[in-house]
Amino acid sequence: MKRLVVLASGAGSNLRAILEARARGELDADVAAVVSEQAGVGALTIAMEAGIPAICLPLRDRRDHAARRAYDARLARVVAAFEPDLIVLAGWMLLLSDAFLDRFPDRIVNVHPALLPDDGGPIVATSRGMQPALRGARAVREALRLGLPVTGATVHWVTLACDAGPVIERAETPILANDDEARLHARIKSLEHRLLPEAIGRVLLERSGRSNGAEEEMIVVGEMR
Ligand code: GRF
Repeated sequence: MKRLVVLASGAGSNLRAILEARARGELDADVAAVVSEQAGVGALTIAMEAGIPAICLPLRDRRDHAARRAYDARLARVVAAFEPDLIVLAGWMLLLSDAFLDRFPDRIVNVHPALLPDDGGPIVATSRGMQPALRGARAVREALRLGLPVTGATVHWVTLACDAGPVIERAETPILANDDEARLHARIKSLEHRLLPEAIGRVLLERSGRSNGAEEEMIVVGEMR
């Protein structure tokens, strides 16, 4: 069984969606641990209720660079201890350092509450034409402020540039006349709850296809000796 470590500092609805997909047999992956940067958040409660190790690693001072580096090193050690096949950022609010990313190459995905383009650029193609790609923590509010006709959700690989890594899956929702931030975010989250387990399943399947091939090659080399 593949192992996920979920980094989540929010309500945890995406964590719950992963666990529910697993329970329905739609996702072949166990959540090995949940790590949060905030104490008392929903994600940690959901983990504890599911009997999953729930770890809070608070970051005391974001502006202190040495403390920030030490935090990332500690986070990497904690995550590595659970031997994840994939690390899932589901409401994780801190940028990860290059040291952290280098330790888990091609193994970190993020879910983001806006439409992001394949090329990491500033513009995304939507069913209603080209729109600005909204990155960062205020993407839902920004979509409303700009009066965009559509927004959505994206699951993408994590790279050093914030919310700009290669896209795995993306889904769109219209912005309605009576939307406020909470209503729109709730609708985006319901897209995320379908998209994130699907994207995780797809990535893990593609990976296991590749590693099976490598194992076959190794057996052939062994027999040749
Ligand atoms: C989601 O909207 C996700 O896209 C963003 O943070 C939110 C987390 O929500 N990165 P939840 O904690 O999973 O409910």
